[in-house]
Amino acid sequence: MVKICCLGAGYVGGPTMAVIALKCPAIEVCVVDISVPRIAAWNSDQLPIYEPGLDEVVKQCRGRNLFFSNDIEKHVAEADIIFVSVNTPTKTRGLGAGKAADLTYWESAARMIADVAKSDKIVVEKSTVPVKTAEAIEKILAHNSKGIKFQILSNPEFLAEGTAIEDLFKPDRVLIGGRETPEGQKAVKALKDVYANWVPEDRILTTNLWSAELSKLAANAFLAQRISSVNAISALCEATGANVAEVAYAVGKDSRIGPKFLNASVGFGGSCFQKDILNLVYICECNGLPEVANYWKQVIKINDYQKSRFVNRVVSSMFNTVSGKKIAVLGFAFKKDTGDTRETAAIDVCKGLLGDKAKISIYDPQVTEEQIQRDLAMNKFDWDHPIHLQPMSPTAVKQVSVTWDAYEATKGAHGICILTEWDEFKTLDYKKIYDSMQKPAFLFDGRNVIDAEKMREIGFIVYSIGKPL
Ligand code: NAD
Ligand code: UGA
Repeated sequence: MVKICCLGAGYVGGPTMAVIALKCPAIEVCVVDISVPRIAAWNSDQLPIYEPGLDEVVKQCRGRNLFFSNDIEKHVAEADIIFVSVNTPTKTRGLGAGKAADLTYWESAARMIADVAKSDKIVVEKSTVPVKTAEAIEKILAHNSKGIKFQILSNPEFLAEGTAIEDLFKPDRVLIGGRETPEGQKAVKALKDVYANWVPEDRILTTNLWSAELSKLAANAFLAQRISSVNAISALCEATGANVAEVAYAVGKDSRIGPKFLNASVGFGGSCFQKDILNLVYICECNGLPEVANYWKQVIKINDYQKSRFVNRVVSSMFNTVSGKKIAVLGFAFKKDTGDTRETAAIDVCKGLLGDKAKISIYDPQVTEEQIQRDLAMNKFDWDHPIHLQPMSPTAVKQVSVTWDAYEATKGAHGICILTEWDEFKTLDYKKIYDSMQKPAFLFDGRNVIDAEKMREIGFIVYSIGKPL
């Protein structure tokens, strides 16, 4: 029986390994992590992440050929293939702070693998890493002079949160990069055989190591660039009377452009787009390519602009001040169908409103009060560095309340900001909400989920992204 071990039981390691276990009953998969509560949650009925369809997959395989454990060294020593899916956050200090990827977690994982391995291993980069990381990892692993051979593969993950299980069941492609030596190609084939259990052969792409590493950063940069492009156009729509939904539809009808990923919004969030573009920018700068670095930097600048434009719109519409006013925030997660709040646009919007002394009442169906308070108290980039976890900020606690009900959050509010596109926000009783609010009642739709005309008929003053006022 082939044995797989995955270091990192997070949003990628957990679902990815659960699907491998489901689709490959002949393979034993063990997911390990340094976090004791995270592993305990994976072994309980309350999984540590919310992802549609994940519970069913885990229930089918856990205890059969899928295991979660903190006994890292034992499972690493026994495995034939080791996936490394640890966090690769943005550095917060030292050389490259604010841009470069922090490979501390990856490096310590590699050193541990080198220390405990007693047989040859395939080590798979699952985390998103800077191009050429495999070279550094090879050096660390080769440092172990016990005669053990390691093959490094790059197998970046392209799943999106909220649709992770669907994406893993039917990936657009699986990408495997390896050394072009016979040993390297043998390792590529071994990993290809795992995916071939359910992924059609023509969707499994093999490349050299550096192409695979760079393709991941490039794919995220292209995706984020589409959102910044449509968001930049949304500002022009507001200035000219064009409607961004109509423009995006017309543009996306060109088969060379395509209709997906063109929804204007309050700004993209999530743990990866910003981090990976900053990482790309840093790599370009290190390679003497400032023009290329500046090109990609602009994607982040437009995203920051979109978030602050939204805050400015709220404040300026409400007679240039929100001081002491209650603003209801509907949605805090970075997108629907996830409880993940990493780099969510809601953090920047709430901080902006708090800066103008608003009182904020937040409702999100999947995010807890503790999480929201922690997010609002944290400094930029600290969220992915566990040692920086800070206690609740007294200021945030005072001005922010969190409810488990949209009607409660909006009661007595002067304005509402919709910041996540949860389906339930489309079908709320907005007449009931309007009646319970202060007048004039403002509605700022950062996701274009509501029918603005209907809301105006109720009496709301409505602002939608990229649409005529
Ligand atoms: P995560 O923070 O949810 O999970 C990472 C886990 O690794 C944590 O539980 C942490 O405790 C654990 N860890 C850290 N060091 C460890 C060590 N030495 N040994 C064992 N466990 C260790 O992160 P994630 O969202 O799963 O992302 C992981 C990687 O995958 C990142 O590089 C990210 O860029 C990439 N990625 C993420 C997504 C996504 O949708 N979240 C998609 C594609 C790629
Ligand atoms: C993204 C990519 O889609 C995945 O392919 C990639 O594997 C992953 O990053 C990663 O490397 O972490 P994810 O961040 O989970 O996945 O979610 P997306 O669906 O890409 O959404 C990202 C952000 O963009 C969200 O805030 C979303 O609301 C926003 N978005 C998305 C828009 O504002 N408009 C759109 O048209 C699409």
